[in-house]
Amino acid sequence: MKDSKLRVLLPADRIQARIREMGEEISRDYPDGNLHFICILKGACFFLTDLARAMKRDVFVDFMGISTYGKGKSTSGEVKVTKDLDISLEGADVLVVEDIVDSGITLNYLMHVLEQRKPKSLRIAALLDKPERRVRTVPVTYVGFQIPDQFVVGYGLDYAEKYRNLDDICVLEGPEEEA
Ligand code: IMP
Ligand code: MG
Repeated sequence: MKDSKLRVLLPADRIQARIREMGEEISRDYPDGNLHFICILKGACFFLTDLARAMKRDVFVDFMGISTYGKGKSTSGEVKVTKDLDISLEGADVLVVEDIVDSGITLNYLMHVLEQRKPKSLRIAALLDKPERRVRTVPVTYVGFQIPDQFVVGYGLDYAEKYRNLDDICVLEGPEEEA
């Protein structure tokens, strides 16, 4: 991690405080019924585990692998399901848990896929939102933080698989910036 500079954008305590608020809000919005959290691997797994523990009710947890980004910072626009769900969504309230909504290409595609599984309801919770970058419409019901158009790492987010295990969310600056 020594070749690039990391500038803290969202410190760990702010992230955790916001996730506790989100957990309370989502718990109020779903007082009963089966609620499924769908974690989009790999970036969202840190957010999912903290959000699930901030919930005041039971949740089912399942995982979906999607690939859009390669090793760099820009999307190819191609979306591929690399790991599918284990549990049926039919008749369930479903919350897609995502780390960041950027162009919207990934979630726009995924929402079409998940709608075909006949859930009772389908919404998105994203920790981060970069609205300036949107090229596809995506309805994001729960947003942790809106951030400017900067590439961020940490708390699950990576650059070429690095930096996921940082507690803070940081802007990546330095030699890798133009990659
Ligand atoms: P989208 O399809 O362009 O909305 O991209 C969504 C995915 O791109 C996210 O789930 C992330 O994996 C990745 N991504 C977008 N912006 C960033 C960033 O700033 N840092 C790290 N990953 C990002
Ligand atoms: Mg992702």
